[in-house]
Amino acid sequence: MIGQTGRWALILHGGAKEIAPEEQEDNRAGCRQALAAGTQVLERGGSAIDAVEASIRVLEALPVFNAGLGSALNSLGEVEMCAALMDGNTLDIGAVGALMGVRHPVSVARKMLRETPILLVGGGAFMFARDNHAELCDPSALIVEKRKESLEALHDTVGAVALDSSGNIAAGTSTGGLTGALKGRMGDSAMPGCGYYADNSIGGVALSGHGEGIARIAAAAQIMAAIERDGAEDAIAKALSQMSRVGGDAGGIAIDKAGRTGWWHNSPSFAVAMASSDSPEANIWLNKQEDTKQDG
Ligand code: GLY
Repeated sequence: MIGQTGRWALILHGGAKEIAPEEQEDNRAGCRQALAAGTQVLERGGSAIDAVEASIRVLEALPVFNAGLGSALNSLGEVEMCAALMDGNTLDIGAVGALMGVRHPVSVARKMLRETPILLVGGGAFMFARDNHAELCDPSALIVEKRKESLEALHDTVGAVALDSSGNIAAGTSTGGLTGALKGRMGDSAMPGCGYYADNSIGGVALSGHGEGIARIAAAAQIMAAIERDGAEDAIAKALSQMSRVGGDAGGIAIDKAGRTGWWHNSPSFAVAMASSDSPEANIWLNKQEDTKQDG
């Protein structure tokens, strides 16, 4: 633990993507609900890990987001999901890749957090989830009609980063991955240094967007290396400007060790919500251009 400031902060996002006008309110409402779940944990002195998990579970349960229920379908028409949680105090990581048949992949990642392996995939991840009493479901129960009907190519992730009042930072991600992907494909969201990272001595970051591109530029690692020098927002912007070298769009959220938040995206939209002990009311945006919404 680096510092006990008594200050807390939470920032989360609903994915770097295009948000159709008729989905704007659901995106905003979902982020608001997820923020409320996480801030409730932090306001009563709970841990950053608990807050990140609580927020992401809300996003996974809502079909408007590409995570859990409503995930993108792979080339076989299946839902395979990736998720991760990182504890910036211990540098413990729990992550799962190409996992089927669980309602909340982030909670499987949580169950792995103190285990020796940092990442389990496919059948192994499912066996771990089953043996550790995760909420299992029929894999087809996560498929929503609009994903079958829509040709929209999804590649986004939901994520959250929190600083708790004990000075601990956590980051988490969850995604249904890339529409039409090969079975077994994993993007950035389960891989530390790519889709997420947290270290109490620096800050925490979570990313969304084209997973192959984000992994190729090791975006989370670049952002962590630059946060102290550039601040959270500029660090994300500089790292993600390199997406032009590898193709695809992306967005990121971050908190530095002092609790300063930042976010940036080059995707058409990026729904973001944040609150802190200094500013506990919910702030929610659908993209950087949008005016700040003060939202109680
Ligand atoms: N960023 C999510 C994915 O590419 O899997």
